[in-house]
Amino acid sequence: MARPDPHSFRDDSQPAVQHLSWHARVDFGTRTLDAVAGLRLRSAAAPAGPDAGRIDLDTRDLTITSVTADGSDADFELSPPDPVMGSRLRISLPAGTASVQIRYRTSPSSTALQWCTPEQTADGTHPFLYSQCQTIHARSMLPIQDTPAVRFSYDATVQVPAGFTALMSASRAGSDESGFRFAQQQSIPAYLFALAAGRLEGREIGPRSTVWAEPSQLASAAWEFAEVEQMLVTAEQVLGPYAWSRADLLVLPPSYPYGGMENPGLIFLTPTLITGDRSLVTVLAHELAHAWTGNLVTCASLDHFWVNEGFTMFAEREITARLIGRDLTELRAAVGRADLEADLRYLANRPELTRLRLDLRGIDPDVASSHVALEKGYLFLRAIAEGVGSERFLEFLRGYLADFRLRSVTGEEVVAYACELLPGAVDYDEWLYGTGLPADSPAVTSPLLDAVREIGQAVPDAGAAAAWSADEWQAYLAELRSPVPAHLLAELDDRYRLGTSANPEILRLWLTVALSSGYPAAVPATVELIERVGRLKYLKPLYDALAASPATSALARECFERNRGRYHPIAATVIEARLSAADAP
Ligand code: BES
Ligand code: ZN
Repeated sequence: MARPDPHSFRDDSQPAVQHLSWHARVDFGTRTLDAVAGLRLRSAAAPAGPDAGRIDLDTRDLTITSVTADGSDADFELSPPDPVMGSRLRISLPAGTASVQIRYRTSPSSTALQWCTPEQTADGTHPFLYSQCQTIHARSMLPIQDTPAVRFSYDATVQVPAGFTALMSASRAGSDESGFRFAQQQSIPAYLFALAAGRLEGREIGPRSTVWAEPSQLASAAWEFAEVEQMLVTAEQVLGPYAWSRADLLVLPPSYPYGGMENPGLIFLTPTLITGDRSLVTVLAHELAHAWTGNLVTCASLDHFWVNEGFTMFAEREITARLIGRDLTELRAAVGRADLEADLRYLANRPELTRLRLDLRGIDPDVASSHVALEKGYLFLRAIAEGVGSERFLEFLRGYLADFRLRSVTGEEVVAYACELLPGAVDYDEWLYGTGLPADSPAVTSPLLDAVREIGQAVPDAGAAAAWSADEWQAYLAELRSPVPAHLLAELDDRYRLGTSANPEILRLWLTVALSSGYPAAVPATVELIERVGRLKYLKPLYDALAASPATSALARECFERNRGRYHPIAATVIEARLSAADAP
């Protein structure tokens, strides 16, 4: 027997799930899903031996009411919960079992699900339920082999109260009195299983895209994301044909913990992208790129998470380079680089977490997650591309997508593949296993960046700044080094009102540098933002900055305790871990 994924009880000598038939009733009253999971099994390669007669599934906080194997009652046993992994559900299987069926209920504290009250939504009229299964939360929604190394197709029926719409990471297959029906024909890893239910309306914004949002946000969302088809066409030029039938979008409540999530056929997006000027739609390009890098070629476990995120950052920037030009794209890469460097400083005493190849045994992957997978992964691929030339690298990338299509890969496999096709392009081992950044990692350069860097630690003059895009502001703020002198911060604040920026990226960069420079006026604006928005990219640096100063560390705790119930469970866990680490002597 072998358990190849450190975050899953999946044993690869046992049969793998091939198809899931899921029926769920969404109960807003009890905040539970009442569900049946039918799992069709593919027999194991070597079905002999002591593990032949059983299957181990991942679960977290599920109440299992019955289990059948090919229609007959089956014995099952739920292990005591592991703090990171949850409980192993071990089911005894008669030889040759083709399918198992599990009746169960989720817990109101399911780590995948946020049950938002009406007050936590845009319209304030109806409750809203949504899931976030990446990284290892599918198991709190359904008993499954919750490892990216196992792929399955699924069909589902979801019952919601009258007036609600259910959506999933699958094609919509109609609705009737039994509920909303879905079918995902392509095989996907469990972390791409996704559900949302709320008062939602859809509007077509492209030949393969509908944007879904609460009614009051629909028009602004449709405008903000109107470029989706253009992005898809560009992505196809870079990466090959889009393999998923639809590319619908869903706008979530503000507590959504990520900028976006690449749920197949239904990208989840934070509402904070809707700024009215399309300045943050690059997140959409990122999630679209995942349809290839991540959803077709998938990391084998979270120890190899960069395989998803690094390739996607690279693809995202190839797409935006074609849409808005290399120079603007470089500004974004510079902000990404600054985010990476901030994380490397934060992880100074956990250098093992700055490797691309991780060893996360016993470690919560959400807590360990940083810009390393995204931005160091990006720089690795960019270093190879600079070594062999862009055209040759893009050929390699398309070959990689074809050769590993619908499979999961380790970083070692990716590197072995690259070593063979692009030998000597970089020091592969140093990139994969080294901590921090290699000394010769690629330099981000553009004339726009030079102009921003020339200003350095000074206040930009009105003439220059008047012409700045949101990207230039972000790059400028990302390059500021704290502590920035108080008079300078006051002047910046005064002239450019950064503390009330409608662009949350500008706002978080400003607040982070201002807080870590001890600028008291930043505190109320920070509190306002972390009470309103649950995106981890903002919560992490802002809580860290509050916690780092003796003047505001108690406030950080207080603010967290007041708001934790409003955050998605993943965000609450991650921030709790960071505040505790900051408290530790
Ligand atoms: N797949 C990620 C979201 C994610 C990251 C889930 C880590 C679980 C753990 C998504 O594609 C992503 O990378 N989102 C980024 C935005 C992106 C433009 C870099 C985010 O949320 O900040
Ligand atoms: Zn991503």
